[in-house]
Amino acid sequence: MLKLKGSIKISGDKSISHRALIFASLCTGQVKISNLLESDDVMRTLNILRELGIKIYKKQNNWIVKGNGTGGYIQPSHALDCGNSGTTSRLMMGAVSSNPIRCTFIGDHSLSNRSMSRLSIFLEKMGAEIVLTNKDFLPLHIDGDVNLVPMKHVMQKASAQVKSALLLSALNLRGKTTVIERRNTRDHTERLMSYLKIKYKKKILNKNSTSIELNGPYEIKPKNISIASDPSSAAFFIVGALIIPKSEIILKNIALNKTRIAFIEVLKNMGGKIKIKKTKTTAGEDVGEIKVSHSILKGVKIKSSLSPYLIDEYPILSIAASQAKGLTIMRGLSELRHKESDRIKSITSNLSKVGFKVTCKSDNIYIEGSKKIKITKEKRIKTYGDHRIAMSFAILSLLYDNKLVIDNESCISISYPNFKNHLNELAEYN
Ligand code: S3P
Repeated sequence: MLKLKGSIKISGDKSISHRALIFASLCTGQVKISNLLESDDVMRTLNILRELGIKIYKKQNNWIVKGNGTGGYIQPSHALDCGNSGTTSRLMMGAVSSNPIRCTFIGDHSLSNRSMSRLSIFLEKMGAEIVLTNKDFLPLHIDGDVNLVPMKHVMQKASAQVKSALLLSALNLRGKTTVIERRNTRDHTERLMSYLKIKYKKKILNKNSTSIELNGPYEIKPKNISIASDPSSAAFFIVGALIIPKSEIILKNIALNKTRIAFIEVLKNMGGKIKIKKTKTTAGEDVGEIKVSHSILKGVKIKSSLSPYLIDEYPILSIAASQAKGLTIMRGLSELRHKESDRIKSITSNLSKVGFKVTCKSDNIYIEGSKKIKITKEKRIKTYGDHRIAMSFAILSLLYDNKLVIDNESCISISYPNFKNHLNELAEYN
């Protein structure tokens, strides 16, 4: 019988890794970054920064970035290839927009089907010239300008990527930029700005809404950045330990950012035995240990207001729901249709294939948990090239003697190249 046992340090956080590289490139000198996530997505950002004239190299286990200051990007000689990475494309569009350079952004098939107009409308209002494919998609060309008009942006749709892109653009603009979020999203950009002593004003407008005001241009002094480990990657093992009998694990160095660990509250409400201990703060983020033991789970209702905080964890939460007693309802998932795959479809079709009763009505998913399902012959899981779908079903497969065959495991390297190694470290057979 397999169980998960022991303790590991999870790899660096993906969102923070992208931001650490970009902010380091905007500093006026050398920044050392430790615990950078070396995944396909993050390497896309790193290589694009190199195309923009930033020197970046690895020294022992750290990355050295020689920042060129805000406004320091040079005209690239190639198209900027974002691969599968939505975060790279949105954040880098924002970052280059206030530089007097012309950039072409391209991406893989999945990224080329994801909306870019959600960001370009804001940049165009400021004066950036952007030509999109079919008015919404990559490839796109952007003519940046240091004289874009700084202004007040009101974001109706929750997106940490769009917010961060607008803040990055503002760093090189003369004057006041205000970004108002109608629904708050993850706040790594603001935390890194505070850590790097970039002055901004944050106002809480109400429980769900915030305004951030910047007054550029900024000179950012270099400061080394240590990256906390990724709670969204930890989530796979957390759910694994909850659903596999006799498991008990400790995950170390995890970012305990409130905008990222809402899934732990959901799992606790389901009956999950999870303990969190804060150990330190690194680069503006609280960090700590998470201890998890096998638990009997029950179905819960997850309200739509939580969706910006659970956006990357619905796939693995759906695996927890499949093993819980009773019905789990996940509401307000429209944004899941715009991720690396249409995650409503990839969650429901694969769980149904395994044998669970799953339905989707408008943007809500209903999952009836069951422990009675037996799998006698292999079943093929279709990931649609989505790394989080691949890892979620790899965890579920552990309960069925690895009889769920993931069609394209290679996509896991998009966010967590060490996933399989870490799983092997935790797996104990007897
Ligand atoms: C991210 C924000 C989220 C998330 C993505 C990473 C970020 O997207 O899904 O994996 O680093 O800003 P949203 O833009 O939908 O918030």
